[in-house]
Amino acid sequence: MYYLNPEVETLNRIFDQNMREPYLRLDLNENPGGLPEEFVKKVLSEITPEFVAQYPETLPFTTKLAEFLNTGVENICLVNGSSEGIRNIIYAFSGPGGRIVGVTPTYAMFEVYSKMYGRNFTPVRYNEDLTIDVENVLAAMTPDTQIMIVVNPNNPMGNAFSEEEMQRIYDRARAYEITLLIDEAYFYFYPKTFLHFALEHEHVFVTRSFSKLFSLAGLRLGYVVGWAEGIKMVQKLCTPHNVNAPSMLFARRIMEEPGLIESLVAKHKEGRQWLISELSARGYKMEGKEGNFIFIQPKTDATTVMNRMKAEKGILIKTYQGVGALGECLRVTTGEKRFMERFLAGLLEIDR
Ligand SMILES: Cc1ncc(COP(=O)(O)O)c(C=O)c1O
Repeated sequence: MYYLNPEVETLNRIFDQNMREPYLRLDLNENPGGLPEEFVKKVLSEITPEFVAQYPETLPFTTKLAEFLNTGVENICLVNGSSEGIRNIIYAFSGPGGRIVGVTPTYAMFEVYSKMYGRNFTPVRYNEDLTIDVENVLAAMTPDTQIMIVVNPNNPMGNAFSEEEMQRIYDRARAYEITLLIDEAYFYFYPKTFLHFALEHEHVFVTRSFSKLFSLAGLRLGYVVGWAEGIKMVQKLCTPHNVNAPSMLFARRIMEEPGLIESLVAKHKEGRQWLISELSARGYKMEGKEGNFIFIQPKTDATTVMNRMKAEKGILIKTYQGVGALGECLRVTTGEKRFMERFLAGLLEIDR
């Protein structure tokens, strides 16, 4: 008899990519400008027919990354975008019907993967003022919880936890034997890391991405850091050769290029600060604590603004509803000033 897994049949996934070509995408938190063109050309010139003909070798790159992060090679699992690492952690460290807790709204895939594997995702809501109450997080970490997911800084508003808050979350996780997943996809836009928790303790993972500041979303590369035995479990679930050779080459060259990371950070910061001050000067309310995105309260209806920005200005942004006191808001990726200028010009024409 044919069989279809009901968890797959009923799973809701969004595959609408909107045909990128005519649009400026400020809805995915990519780097809209990408890496410097000269740098990209230089790295591409290293790619030979043999290089693409061979299965990718991960050890040299993992060794390089381990040096860069000051970890052991055994503490790293390379993944095809950090979303693959998140999926593997959910699959390996929770069971059918298991309770997974995360602050919501956040990156949608935590909930999607939980549903995909028949886990119960329990959301912790933001406060009305769009802050996250660590007491609510702790209260949701019940003894039957299997995974606690913390995004630092959290998408879509950029809330970040302090060292003391994370220590309390870790202490509760430890006491109840809950695996702690700390998502640092937006590290570098906010330099405080909790990597030390993953290196000092078992059952703590940090996931990181090369898609955001490193501007390699199109190449799919991320990694999981954790204790050696846990990393082995994450690795077991990867498809063979899950990480491609060009992505590792690009990531290596970015890490080796003097000043490149700093200049990407500086360019982003300039554009972001410009946008925030222009919006504030025009009386916009917004929340954008950390990260490469901000949460803006439009003056008119958010969905209409989003749709018109797409249809009339060719700019894609996202909306969020019912998160807190700001009501329905726009989430906009921040990046180089030239893109922020285009976004603001469009917004000012439409949102009135
Ligand atoms: C919080 C968070 N984690 C993970 C990801 C996935 O990134 P990757 O491209 O590495 O799969 C995203 C993507 O937007 C994200 O916002």
